[in-house]
Amino acid sequence: MKDRFYIRNAKDHADERVTVRGWLYNKRGHGKVRFVEVRDGTGLMQCVLVKGEANDSAFEAFDELTQESSIAITGTLREEPRAVGGYEMGVDELEILQIAEPYPIQPKEHGPEFLLDNRHLWLRSSKQWAIIRVRSALVLAIRKYLDGQGFVLIDTPILTGSIGEEGQTLFETKYFDLGKAYLAQTGQLYLEAAMFAHNLVYDFGPTFRAEKSKTRRHLTEFWMVDVEEAFYDSDDNMNLQEEFVRAIVEMTVEACPRELEILERDTNILLNSARKPFARISYDDAIELLREKGEDIEWGRDIGGAAETIISEHFDSPVFIYDYPKKIKAFYMKQHPERPELVKCSDLIAPEGVGEIIGGSQREEDIEVLRARIREEGLPEEAYGWYLDLRKFGSVPHSGFGLGIERTVAWICGISHVREAIPFPRMIYRLNP
Ligand code: 4AD
Ligand code: MG
Repeated sequence: MKDRFYIRNAKDHADERVTVRGWLYNKRGHGKVRFVEVRDGTGLMQCVLVKGEANDSAFEAFDELTQESSIAITGTLREEPRAVGGYEMGVDELEILQIAEPYPIQPKEHGPEFLLDNRHLWLRSSKQWAIIRVRSALVLAIRKYLDGQGFVLIDTPILTGSIGEEGQTLFETKYFDLGKAYLAQTGQLYLEAAMFAHNLVYDFGPTFRAEKSKTRRHLTEFWMVDVEEAFYDSDDNMNLQEEFVRAIVEMTVEACPRELEILERDTNILLNSARKPFARISYDDAIELLREKGEDIEWGRDIGGAAETIISEHFDSPVFIYDYPKKIKAFYMKQHPERPELVKCSDLIAPEGVGEIIGGSQREEDIEVLRARIREEGLPEEAYGWYLDLRKFGSVPHSGFGLGIERTVAWICGISHVREAIPFPRMIYRLNP
């Protein structure tokens, strides 16, 4: 690794002779001076061929080059404030590895379907490059923050026998002689078991929902980090989420200045809202607020994407909506001690129209209440035997939450659709590439 040159490290190699191996981004010029822009996946560099300084063969190669051809280009680096990245190369050799066929993605307006059909190539485009790097930085920030706070990583299963959130959106598959297996919708239930062993725990992995929603916020396969904390109530849970979200946004912005510049993201707007105290509004008050704003919404109905946006625009920070009616939330949420029609939960709504990025709650620790909820929801009680066990052997108050990676990436990047926030999006009508 040490001896390899990567464009992102150009500033450490001023005046040295180096070789860049990468792909042709652009070429221009004719006659005695030619310019090649090469990208190596870590950055973009301008390379200058001057007659008499570069080999004649380099000039011949230049004429043949097409967009995305793979090349190895060698020369001396020099500081050039006008070039991208602040350095350019004075070329002496240019070797062609492969001449690319006419590249389907051109610097013009392509429709989203065309770009998604070519996702395997689209990933190379600068905006997509930037988004995927922000995602990578976000994942690292999440891991760093949680590890730093003493949380232990628990890898929860993808193939499960019992269900997670709700029955209607399960993907199922045949499983040998055991009948059906289901793809995990969340690692939460398994994470709760691990919490009793390790106290503060998290999981991080792909989750699956056979959602028929064709919105800009839904994927059928997405990544989630679930966090679970022993001896936390719903307020403690919200406090932790607030610190966590603020920290991961700050760490990601700090790690990705170039990427966010490519995305033309106004990081002041992002950081200002992430640094404000997060607003908190009860479900009751949220319904009231929506009515004041002219929405026709009944108490007891779920708060959909459009309504979330109305609420988040009312505050200029992320906002928690807490204590929802029990009948629209998952079975495991703790019943409100004074109002049995509610549960102690919270959804965190990100600003700028992104919508819910976290769903969390205090968990029901009373075995009888929990069993009654499982029956009420018509869930297969046998499948939950092990989960109920957790309330038999040292039950404690505890809480947790799940953050959706793609929606968080979309918020940080300022993009409107989650399909660009994951390398290969899976949606109802898309399984390829
Ligand atoms: O609110 P959800 O359904 O919560 C749970 O699954 C809990 N078991 C988490 C927990 O308490 N440990 O999902 C959590 C988050 C949502 O807030 C959203 O960000 C994301 O996961 N999410 C989706 N992202 C993209 N496409 C979908 N279809 C999503 N469904 C949920
Ligand atoms: Mg939710």
